[in-house]
Parts: sequence; C-alpha cells; structure tokens
Amino acid sequence: MPGKKKTQDESVPITKPTRKRKPLVVPTVTDAPACEAPTLLRTGEYDGSALLPLSIEEGAAEFQTLLGIGHTRTCDCPSSHLNCMSAKEWLKSQIGVWHFLYEKRDIRDKTLHPATFPIQLAAKVIELFTHRGELVLDPFVGSGTTLVAAEDLDRNAVGFDLKSEYVSLSRSRLQSNLFGHAQQIAIRDDALNIPKYLEPESVSLIWTSPPYANLLNRERHNKSRRDRKNDQYLKIEQYSQDPRDLGTMSLDDYSTAIGDIFEQLLPLLKPHGHCVINVPDMWWENQRITIHVSLIEELRRRGYELRNTIIWDRTNIVNAIGIFGWPSNYITMGVTFEYLLDFWKP
Ligand SMILES: C[S@@+](CC[C@H](N)C(=O)[O-])C[C@H]1O[C@@H](n2cnc3c(N)ncnc32)[C@H](O)[C@@H]1O
Repeated sequence: MPGKKKTQDESVPITKPTRKRKPLVVPTVTDAPACEAPTLLRTGEYDGSALLPLSIEEGAAEFQTLLGIGHTRTCDCPSSHLNCMSAKEWLKSQIGVWHFLYEKRDIRDKTLHPATFPIQLAAKVIELFTHRGELVLDPFVGSGTTLVAAEDLDRNAVGFDLKSEYVSLSRSRLQSNLFGHAQQIAIRDDALNIPKYLEPESVSLIWTSPPYANLLNRERHNKSRRDRKNDQYLKIEQYSQDPRDLGTMSLDDYSTAIGDIFEQLLPLLKPHGHCVINVPDMWWENQRITIHVSLIEELRRRGYELRNTIIWDRTNIVNAIGIFGWPSNYITMGVTFEYLLDFWKP
C-alpha cells in the first residue's frame, strides 16, 4: 500500500542461521518375531515335566504336592528379552489404555460365573510378560479364562479356586493336556496353599482378577439392572460363603488376607517376574472405595514394586448404564473402566 510503512514481517525476509541438523536416528522396527516358533512335541514327549491332570481336587494324588510342571522357555529368544514379541508388537503394547472384545468362547453368563474377564485380555498380559513354555499362575482362576489363554499361547499355567463348580468349569474349557507342549491345570484349593504346589522362582507371571472384599456380597439394586429386567437384579454376586473366600471379608480383613497370599507368592516368582492384578474401584454407600489404592499399598508392604498402571477401557463392551447422581452428585461408572496394576519382584 502506498505510504504505508512496511513492517519487518512483510519486508525483510528473515534468514535463520543455517545449522546442520543431526541425522535423526530412527530405530528399525520390524515385525519379525524375536524368536522362532517352537517345535511342538508329540504326545508323550515332554521336557522332563510330569504329565499332569487337567484338574486336581482333594483326594487326588497330586493334591498339595509339588507338581513338577514345566516352567522353562521352549522358544529361542535372546535371554535378555522379556517376551517373544517383535519390536512392532512391543511398540503397540506401549499404549497404556487397552480395549478388548469378547469372543464366542468367553463366558458371559453370570449364572456360570459372575465376574469373568475376556480371553483377549488374559492373552495380552501373558504375551507381554512371558515366553512360550514359561509358567503363569492365577491364584483366583474362577471360570479358567487365564488357563484358556495360556493354552492358546503354549504357556504352562496353574489356576486355583475354592469352588468345585469353577474348577470343573475351567476344566471343561481346556483341551486335553496331551497335545501341545505346555500344560494347564485347575486346582481346587485355597490360594494360601499355592506354595505347596510350585517351586521357588518357577513362575514368570502372576495374573489374576481377585475378589473385591465383600463389596459384591449384597443384593444388586442397580437401576440399569432393574430397567433391563436383568437376571442379576437383586442377585448377590458372591462366589461362596466359605470363610476363606476373600469375597466374604470386610475391606480391612481383605487387605490383610490378600497381602498374606501375595507375600507367599513372591518367592515363587522369578526375579523381575511380573504380577498383574485386574481391579475396579467401587461405590459403597456414596463413598468411593479405592480398591486399587489399597492393593498397591498392601503389595508394596509385601515386597512388590509397582511398575505400570494400565486402564482397561470397557466402554466398547458396556451395553447400557443407568443414570446415577443427576443432577447434583457426579458419579463415574465403575463398569466403564478397570485398573490393571502391573508389579514386579524387585
Ligand atoms: C473375580 S473371580 C475370578 C474370575 C476369573 N478372572 C474369570 O475370568 O473367570 C475371583 C475368584 O476367586 C475365588 N476365590 C475367592 N477366595 C479364594 C481363595 N482364598 N482361594 C482361591 N480362590 C478364591 C472365587 O471363588 C472366584 O471364583
């Protein structure tokens, strides 16, 4: 424009001093597996571990005896690798919010078991923290989802539950132990007795969803359940009334009892073996019960170190939620997310 004084921005080209850029070092991320697939052994050929039944109850020869189950790698990954993942798979796993879908094999009928997680979730945790042939322990196995995922992934696995029905259900979801290399076993026993079955430093991963104190031990009055004429309305989603069942205990007794169990499990873990626990928080008489905080504090007291907090975002699998607290009391719905607390043995 005539007469208008040009600003520096308009008139003077700003020339930045040319600085030589350092070449950016991009790590090569390939999809190549870290190790070769294992050769599956034929029926009857085992790596020295005993051939074990699919389930064990009181009265069986194996009840409360050392199992001699396999726990060493059958892959040929470099010894420093945490798992059999390729760099690309590892990269994707670094995202701290996880989503899963249920598949046909998943148990969603709450009359069979009131609190199951998807096979895909168990599989992701197992793939992250173990190699093929290693040993996974689920101290509260319920319907056996951990065992199913371990079977799919050729990992040895042992799961414990107090209830005979759940041990039978777990067993019914497994193929026979005769074909792959790894074995999976459901045992009816108190989680406090687990050290009777497993050798020290034989477990690579403890993975579980424990009971949540006595917070489910009450009638379900949720509006959403009522509205949907849900079978669970007024149901008590409790596993049992066995006094050893952690689901019957007050929050204080529960924290101590779960701490006692996990303290005994620590010597069974390999050094730097992971222990991943799935828990939600809950509302109880308009108070937020932070189960995940109690668990973190208790496990730290018992010698575990917290490594990661992962959110299991369940919004893709929640059908409908009722309205609570409107218009004055904001309440996030527990069903929409849960915690996955990842500890390790220091
Ligand atoms: C949340 S459920 C586990 C569900 C499992 N994640 C699934 O997908 O089916 C917890 C289980 O712990 C069991 N349980 C409670 N106290 C126990 C104890 N002291 N020892 C062993 N199992 C116990 C209950 O019977 C229940 O099946």
